[in-house]
Amino acid sequence: MFIAANWKMNLKKSDIKDFLYFLKKNDFSNKIKLCIFPQSIYLSYLIDLLENTSVLVGGQNCYYELSGPFTGEISPECLKDIGCNYVILGHSERRTHFKESSTHVKMCAETALKTSLTPIICVGESYEDRMNNEELNFIENQIYHSIPNIEENFYIAYEPIWSIGTGSIPTNNQIFKMHDHIKKIAFSILKKDIKVLYGGSVSPNNIDEILKVSNVDGVLIGGASLKIKDFLAIYGSVAKHVNNN
Ligand code: PGA
Repeated sequence: MFIAANWKMNLKKSDIKDFLYFLKKNDFSNKIKLCIFPQSIYLSYLIDLLENTSVLVGGQNCYYELSGPFTGEISPECLKDIGCNYVILGHSERRTHFKESSTHVKMCAETALKTSLTPIICVGESYEDRMNNEELNFIENQIYHSIPNIEENFYIAYEPIWSIGTGSIPTNNQIFKMHDHIKKIAFSILKKDIKVLYGGSVSPNNIDEILKVSNVDGVLIGGASLKIKDFLAIYGSVAKHVNNN
């Protein structure tokens, strides 16, 4: 099981210090991979605080070139250089606010893989697409254009846009159907199985229900990963789940 904590543009240095103080008191399960994605300016700070723990750190985004005249961008090679293992790519907030296309996401993923970073490639349909029963087609198209067609290691995060930060989540049946669809499409391209995370309003209240979906390989948590109490409650549910299965 994978737990990814996407802090987005939140938490200052002192907040991170407090969060880590409580997080480090926790026992970490070796059956859970836990990775935190802070704002890029705090990556090194977090990596230092997490020294000698099994908690991993990743970037919230990166560019598709390794270096050069790209003011404001983040090189995947430098993420790797400072000790990151993962990078989130194609988050719906990047796609919406920064107009990142699936082609762009794919190029970033290919470069990230060259530096041995593991991308978590996000896909997700709008509310309108779901209302028009277009969600399966939309996701299929997004995957074809966003994932590298090389047989490498990466994750896909299914994050319906209408669920991010809203408190409404798909039913277990809808999650199962979409994860199954994503895995089948990825298999047809890569000829290998891929792991799929669910993201969108994951909270201590719904995590047990989400974990009942057999093809959920982990969760990408936004808002609920900012408060240590909520985050540890989710971690505890995942730990119980992996121990019972
Ligand atoms: P949320 O965000 O958990 O606050 O809905 C998830 C995400 O955007 O990755």
